[in-house]
Amino acid sequence: MTGAALKAAKGLIRDFGELEQLQVSKKGPADFVSKADHRAESVIRAELAKARPGYSMLLEETGTVEGSDTSNRWVVDPLDGTTNFLHGIPHFSISIGLERDGEPYAGVIYSPIADEMFVAERGTGAFVNGRRLRVSGRRRVDESLFATGVPFLGLPDHALALRQVGAVMAVSSGIRRYGSAALDLAWVAAGRYDGYWENGLNPWDIAAGIVLVREAGGFVTDLAGGKRMFTGGGILASNTALHPELIALVGSARTEPATAGA
Ligand code: IPD
Ligand code: CA
Ligand code: CA
Repeated sequence: MTGAALKAAKGLIRDFGELEQLQVSKKGPADFVSKADHRAESVIRAELAKARPGYSMLLEETGTVEGSDTSNRWVVDPLDGTTNFLHGIPHFSISIGLERDGEPYAGVIYSPIADEMFVAERGTGAFVNGRRLRVSGRRRVDESLFATGVPFLGLPDHALALRQVGAVMAVSSGIRRYGSAALDLAWVAAGRYDGYWENGLNPWDIAAGIVLVREAGGFVTDLAGGKRMFTGGGILASNTALHPELIALVGSARTEPATAGA
């Protein structure tokens, strides 16, 4: 997994440095698929297929590739933080998750410009460049820094996201929106963020990061505290002390405020 990420990163770093040559094809109002994205995915797909020929795959750009081994599936986002990448913001990642029997089992998230390799495998801990990771030890929301992803043109749930941000910003030490969901989860595992939540992500955004947070001693659920992270329930990751309070804060924003005089 790390070899595939490093090999794909070589091309991404080159392309990041030559942004002006990058051709893009429009995939949606605010979402671009770059040539770099596709190239990185084909490198990762070839490397993973070489290493584990029978595994199935779910790749963001290609979709599902059925393999003979039905209990193992790679879940790959070859470039997470595409908008940052295209705007020359050096905060993007390669995310490679491994699902075993339908559950997140291992994850690699590589941040090429920071040269940080986040790795985790169920039962063996989480590491960044060989250093063990632990989630934050903070227990008070007013001392905590959270991250989220707010939607943009063409994505739904703007009002919900604004209510969620309003609820959290009013009682915390702040919120960050850095633009790579995979790295948001990796930074929770590293204790840099005390918690993170987001609506509407895809399996390839979160499969690797979920393993990292859990192996770093954190807790990951959907926005209601359940297990629907991969089926539209959103995601919320934190340490066990803050998790229930963040669930309550984000959950309190679920309903529209009653209009005056209603
Ligand atoms: C996006 C990033 C972003 C999140 C978006 C994702 P992409 O992934 O993870 O942080 O807020 O919802 O789509 O499109 O850059 O791979
Ligand atoms: Ca993504
Ligand atoms: Ca992507």
